[in-house]
Amino acid sequence: MSDIHGEDGGRPAPGEATSERVRGIFAGIADSYDVFNRLSSFGIDRSWRRATVRAAALKPGMRVLDICAGTGDVSFALAREGVAEEVVGTDFVPEMLDVAKRKAKRFTSETKVRFSVADAQDLPFDDASFDVVTVAFGVRNLPDRAANFAEVYRVLRPGGRYVILEFSRPPFAPYRMGYHFYLRHVIPAIGGLLTHDRPSFVYLNESILRFPGQPALAAELRAAGFSAVSWRNLTGGIVAMHTSVRG
Ligand SMILES: C[S@@+](CC[C@H](N)C(=O)[O-])C[C@H]1O[C@@H](n2cnc3c(N)ncnc32)[C@H](O)[C@@H]1O
Repeated sequence: MSDIHGEDGGRPAPGEATSERVRGIFAGIADSYDVFNRLSSFGIDRSWRRATVRAAALKPGMRVLDICAGTGDVSFALAREGVAEEVVGTDFVPEMLDVAKRKAKRFTSETKVRFSVADAQDLPFDDASFDVVTVAFGVRNLPDRAANFAEVYRVLRPGGRYVILEFSRPPFAPYRMGYHFYLRHVIPAIGGLLTHDRPSFVYLNESILRFPGQPALAAELRAAGFSAVSWRNLTGGIVAMHTSVRG
C-alpha cells in the first residue's frame, strides 16, 4: 500500500494507516499519550498490558523485542518482571521514544531496557535474535501487516513467540454497538480536548473499526507461517491478545 495515496488513489480513507499519517499523529500526541490512555480506557489499559506480559512467558536469559513501543509501557512492564536478560523497545516515531527514554531514567530492574528507532516493517536486527516479540496497539497502524509478520518471523528464534495485543471485535452485538458509539463519539471528544487534535482520534477510531476480527487476524498469522495461533478476548473482546509461535 502506498504511503500517501488512499484506496481511491487520492487522500487516504478515514481509518487507513499510511506511514506519513501515523507518524504525524503520534509525533503530535506523544506528550499527552499516556494521560489519554489512562482516561479513555478508565485505567483498564494497564491490565491489558499485564496480560501481554503473562502471555510472553518470560524465562531467564531471554531477549525480548517490543515493537511499536511508543512511550514504553509494555517494555517497562516486561522488564519489571526482572526475568528476561534484555528488553529492546522500538518505534518509528522519535517523539514517542523520547517520552519512553525520560521514563527509563526513573526505572530500575534486573532486566536491561533500551529504546531505538525502527520501522516495524523493516527491523534492523539479525535473524533469530529474539525469543519473544510483543506489540501492543501497533499492528493496526501498519500499512503492510504481512511485511511486519515476515520480519517478526525472521527475527524470532525457532519456537519464539509473537504476542499481539490489539483492539478487536466484541462478539456480543449489543455490547459491540455500545462500544462503537463510545469509539465514534466519546474518544474524539476526550482526545480533542487533551490534544486539540480531534481528527487524529477520528483516524484512530476508524482504524479500529477497519481492523480484522479475531479469526481473520489469526488466519493472517498462519499464512505468514506462524503455528499454535490462538487468541483470548479481554474486556469482552474490545481487545484481543493473539499468541503464535515461530515454527
Ligand atoms: C497506539 S501506540 C501504542 C504504543 C505502546 N505499544 C502502548 O501500548 O502504549 C502505536 C505506536 O505504534 C507506532 N508505530 C506505528 N507504525 C509504526 C511502524 N511502521 N513502525 C514502528 N512503529 C510504528 C506509533 O509511532 C506509536 O508509537
